[in-house]
Amino acid sequence: MNTHPRSAPGTAPHMSPAAVPTQVYGAAGATASADAVAPALAATGLVKSYGATHALAGVDLIVPQGDSVAIMGPSGSGKSTLLHVLAGMILPDSGTVTLGVGASAGAEVTSLSAGERTRLRRESFGFVFQQGLLLPELTAEENVAVAAMLKGASRAQATARAREWLSSLGLAEHAGKRIGQLSGGQAQRVAIARAQITEPAVIFADEPTGALDSRTSAEVLHILLDTTVGRGRTLIMVTHDEKVAATCRRTVRLADGRIVADSATVPAGPAHTGGAR
Ligand SMILES: Nc1ncnc2c1ncn2[C@@H]1O[C@H](COP(=O)(O)OP(=O)(O)O)[C@@H](O)[C@H]1O
Ligand SMILES: [Mg+2]
Repeated sequence: MNTHPRSAPGTAPHMSPAAVPTQVYGAAGATASADAVAPALAATGLVKSYGATHALAGVDLIVPQGDSVAIMGPSGSGKSTLLHVLAGMILPDSGTVTLGVGASAGAEVTSLSAGERTRLRRESFGFVFQQGLLLPELTAEENVAVAAMLKGASRAQATARAREWLSSLGLAEHAGKRIGQLSGGQAQRVAIARAQITEPAVIFADEPTGALDSRTSAEVLHILLDTTVGRGRTLIMVTHDEKVAATCRRTVRLADGRIVADSATVPAGPAHTGGAR
């Protein structure tokens, strides 16, 4: 299904180079030429306020395809709001988000109707949140299959693929159990299978291991990374845990709705004379 070649974003009509800041990475930690990797998502000037609260106060962020980005920051700094805006779940007051990969490559997410954004999320995005995305009255297998059916697979196809995914995540014998009968770690593996069955271009995770003990957390995180960046997909993960963040290639730190640090950029200053810019 999602067998788009990596060069597909080049055909994106709205992805004009002028709209996208050219510095994707600084020198530190960059493994590939920034020019060679199409951005999965490009956000510019994101502002989102709730009354007097500026949840996002001007965020620019480019996430290259296949990258893993941890979004960190204190409680209330705007992490979840940023994730929801990037994923087209809520609209910013101003600013744009442009998608560079997947079936809707080139779409300006922030200009789409609610219905179009719903379709885009089903086709191009996967979600792993701390809790709440799985339907408790359905079995593990049904929860996973539903995501594929929403994207157009037949029940038989969806069920077969759900079984494959659950088996590959070590849950074969739990496929017929309801979510409430599973441990927290098992439920998160179901959530990962649910997010991955549609082969999304970008996976958004919000504190995916926040409710797990440290050993289970490490297991789930390993599976999450393996099934996303391990397969060339893009992972954007909110976490308050430095150890979890350290598993991502890049860390972006928010405070009061702004990016205050980004491990992918070289700090400006006289000490840096040999940077990539
Ligand atoms: N739906 C909402 N209504 C009102 N205020 C909100 C809403 N969502 C977020 N906020 C506020 O915006 C700020 C950022 O929230 P959030 O993005 O959830 O932060 P984080 O995920 O970093 O804890 C907080 O002050 C929060 O209270
Ligand atoms: Mg949050």
